[in-house]
Amino acid sequence: MNHQAYISAISHWVPEKVLTNADLEKMVDTNDEWIRSRTGIRERRILEDGKASSDMGAEAVKLLLKQRGIGAEEIDAIVVATVTPDMFFPSTANLIQDKIGAKKAFSFDIAAACSGFIYALSVGSQFINTGTCKKVVVVGTDKMSAITNYRDRNTCVLFGDAAGAVLLEPNDGKEGAVVDFMLHSDGSGADYLHMKAGGSLYPATVETVANDWHYIFQDGRTVFKFAVQNMADISVRILEKNGLEGKDIKLFVPHQANLRIIDAAVKRLGIDYDKVAINIDRYGNTTAATIPLAMSESFQAGKLEVGDYVVLATFGAGFTWGSALLKWGIDREKISE
Ligand code: UT7
Repeated sequence: MNHQAYISAISHWVPEKVLTNADLEKMVDTNDEWIRSRTGIRERRILEDGKASSDMGAEAVKLLLKQRGIGAEEIDAIVVATVTPDMFFPSTANLIQDKIGAKKAFSFDIAAACSGFIYALSVGSQFINTGTCKKVVVVGTDKMSAITNYRDRNTCVLFGDAAGAVLLEPNDGKEGAVVDFMLHSDGSGADYLHMKAGGSLYPATVETVANDWHYIFQDGRTVFKFAVQNMADISVRILEKNGLEGKDIKLFVPHQANLRIIDAAVKRLGIDYDKVAINIDRYGNTTAATIPLAMSESFQAGKLEVGDYVVLATFGAGFTWGSALLKWGIDREKISE
């Protein structure tokens, strides 16, 4: 019996409120031209106060279940990637499990920052591949606005809020498959991209708050150099490992941190721009959500057919980076919604 995992449904959810470059010009010393030319971002979405990553994740999962035409009680496991959990514990996955009523599912979070979705996809796939589970939901959800310092122009122009989700099931002879993964970590990168306080090293104090240590810190230039090199490498290497070339893939879905980082990977892959999922202009960097969000929008736009090869690639805090090779398995004609 072939238990290989495939993506059987995909969805995303974004908040309505839009924060434009013009809005940011009124908040910090920045301008639309700088943001667009250095990052490719025009606007991003911001979740309302009183709502959290689990709310966005739950909305995305509800859409996922509707698309697949199944109930929440059929889910066996929920794996959530996030750097903005609602709270330290319980996990955001537990909160989503409760919000959607997935009573049978066990649920837990994964911490791999911008690589979180690909890491979570790899973990979720193992539960299917081993035959342990029949239906695993993988979510990437981040309310980056909760940890963004809107007085720091180096970071506040970059991030936004969103969620994306996929359902994994055994392909049982169907064409779709999660074919392969490549995952990497280099913890010496921690100095360059982190949120310093709130953990066990620097628990919240008046000083940590006054020092802005509960916000994202990024040495953008250093992260940029590592990201350009590693995201391009990992995209090419997963193709080589599987005996494929750029021309063989239908869609490249890169993490959306900076259009210039995406450009570098696209050049190394030698693929046409119309094969690249890009939505950074509308959402900015939504961390764990960028890849499922971009892949879901591409699917909705009719860019994916059963049997197409898809490459996912990412680079983020940790440092962490990785790629995944998928064979597309959702038939647009056959989905419920
Ligand atoms: O998703 C996780 C992984 N993260 C990434 O992959 C992000 C990687 N890094 C980047 O995308 C880029 O480094 C940034 C977009 C963060 C910055 O772009 P950059 O071209 O590397 O700019 P820079 O940091 O080298 O700054 C260039 C100049 C500086 O001024 P000086 O020192 O040259 O006078 C900055 O102060 O641009 C200035 N600057 C800004 N100016 C206007 C920085 N932020 C802004 C801003 N508006 N928002």
